[in-house]
Amino acid sequence: MFFEELKKIRLVPVVVIDDAGLATPLADAIVAGGLSSVEITLRTEEALAAIKTMAARSDLMVGAGTVLTLDQAKAAVDCGARFIVSPGMSPILVDWCLAAKIPVIPGCATPTEIQMAMERGLDTVKFFPAEQLGGVKMLVTLTAVFQAMHFMPTGGITADNLLNYLALPQVVACGGSWLVKTGWLKEKKFTEIRQEIARAVQLLENSPTRCL
Ligand code: 3PG
Repeated sequence: MFFEELKKIRLVPVVVIDDAGLATPLADAIVAGGLSSVEITLRTEEALAAIKTMAARSDLMVGAGTVLTLDQAKAAVDCGARFIVSPGMSPILVDWCLAAKIPVIPGCATPTEIQMAMERGLDTVKFFPAEQLGGVKMLVTLTAVFQAMHFMPTGGITADNLLNYLALPQVVACGGSWLVKTGWLKEKKFTEIRQEIARAVQLLENSPTRCL
C-alpha cells in the first residue's frame, strides 16, 4: 500500500528536470544515496519523459509533482507515475485519482482545504508551502485539530529542519528540492546529489519513526 510505503521512506526528493537524458544517472544517484522515491515536477517539457524512464525501474517509486490539471495527471499516470502530488486542493483532480486508484497528495495550506480533502475521503495531504506557512508550529496547531489526518510537509524543508517535522506523529514524510538542486542536476553533479541524499538518510537513520 502506497501510504504505508511512504511512511517507511520518510523523505521524497522533489526534482525539476530539464533533460530527460539525465533521468537514469539521477535515479542511480538517488538510489545509491539510500532513497527509493522521487517526485518529478511537471514544470518542464522533459518531465514526462523522465518519469517514463524512471518508472521502468523496480528500485524507485516515481511520482509526478506540480500536477495542476487533470490532463497532466492522466499523462503522468500513462508514463508510469505511481502517485500524484499537486500544490493545491483540486476536487476534480482528487476525484479522478480516487476513481483511478492512483494515490494522490493534494496541497493544503488552510483548515478549509484540509476539510475539503477529508470530505473526499483522503487521510493524507501535502502541507505546502510548509515553512512559509509557519512551519512546525503551524503544523502542530493543525494536527491538534485534524487528528485523523496525515501530512507531507513540503516547501522550505532542509537538513536543518527535517527532523523537527518528522518528529510530529502525523507527519508521514517530507518533500524537498534541496536534495537534488536544479543547478547540480544541470551540471551533472551526481556525486553531490548522492552525498546530500546520503547525509539526509543518515539523519533519518538516527531518528526513530514517530508517524502513527
Ligand atoms: C514543491 O514543489 O513541493 C516545492 O517547490 C518544494 O519546495 P522546496 O523547493 O522549498 O523544497
